[in-house]
Amino acid sequence: MKEKIEGLRVRFASELGEAVSQESLEALRVGFLGKKGEIAELMKGLRDVADKKTAGQLINSFKNEVESAIADAEESLRKAAIDAQVRGAKKYNPTLASPRELGSYHPITLATREVEEIFISMGFTIENYDEIVDDYRCFEALNIPKHHPARDMQDTYYLDNGQLLKTHTSAAQNAIMKKYGAPLRAIFPGRCFRNESTDACHENTFFQMEGMMIDENISISNLIYFMKTMLSEVFKRDVKVRLRPGFFPFVEPGFELDINCAICGGEGCPSCKNSGWLELCPCGMIHPNVLSEGGINPDEYTGFAFGLGLTRLAMMKYGVKDIRDLNGANLNSLDQFTEDK
Ligand code: FA5
Repeated sequence: MKEKIEGLRVRFASELGEAVSQESLEALRVGFLGKKGEIAELMKGLRDVADKKTAGQLINSFKNEVESAIADAEESLRKAAIDAQVRGAKKYNPTLASPRELGSYHPITLATREVEEIFISMGFTIENYDEIVDDYRCFEALNIPKHHPARDMQDTYYLDNGQLLKTHTSAAQNAIMKKYGAPLRAIFPGRCFRNESTDACHENTFFQMEGMMIDENISISNLIYFMKTMLSEVFKRDVKVRLRPGFFPFVEPGFELDINCAICGGEGCPSCKNSGWLELCPCGMIHPNVLSEGGINPDEYTGFAFGLGLTRLAMMKYGVKDIRDLNGANLNSLDQFTEDK
């Protein structure tokens, strides 16, 4: 009996190694644990054995081994299937369970790094900037004096000492101009805050990435070239965008750059407020007053600036329908974005 069990153990191990599907595992289970399977045959053979107690114990322990090895293999297959589903998922699915125990990068981190790499390759430096700034940097240095109506769109959280949580990454423009002078190529990603009611495409805390390029003879064509290059590299496919006039006191002329909604394909849905388009990256030629305020001579230099909505970019890139999911700490589903970076 002992030799018989040893022989079956070797055969089972080899067949288990080859069972790579649910069907082959089921066949293996029936072959060993089924009514007419190998273990049932061993039990029948007990009739002819003298030391029935020892032989019975051997058969039982072999049976337990087979049961738990098949259960382990089934669990591994199940995890591999979820993993494949997650890796193949083109769109974010908040209900997918994580097959992994380790943490992973947040989609906004992944999108930020990707855009950073694109701009680094075009000669831009990455600047860090504070989240708490003063009124001068957030508004006045940007041609938005006190009581200017443009402030209404960017209500924020004020601290007791008069400082505020920055409403846009443009708040760093002045300090960076003063730090480097011209010519200058810089991007500066950061968290922004606004006192806003939230909906599928608005958060009170979100990320933007500002970019500035200042040199002699910079024109709108340079601006359009950099925007197009960035978007085609981020999405790795043709994305429909539209450029329309937009007003921001710190640029002249100013544009709104909208992206065709990737969630509904432009038909209209809550993610794009039923318009089919999502405001993604306003931009424009830096206003001469803003250059002067930053210590740069506007008669000698011109430049463009843009304010990319990074959180919305991550939504469109990964098919996240509701912006609030990105701050929702659903750790289970976040790792479907990780590309083993
Ligand atoms: C600005 O913040 C300007 N500073 C952008 C700019 C920079 C214009 C340089 C010209 C030159 P706006 O408020 O539109 O503009 O915000 C820019 C982008 O940030 C929006 O297109 C959107 O993608 C994103 N954004 C704005 N508010 C929110 C919000 N509440 N939730 C999520 N994303 C937002």
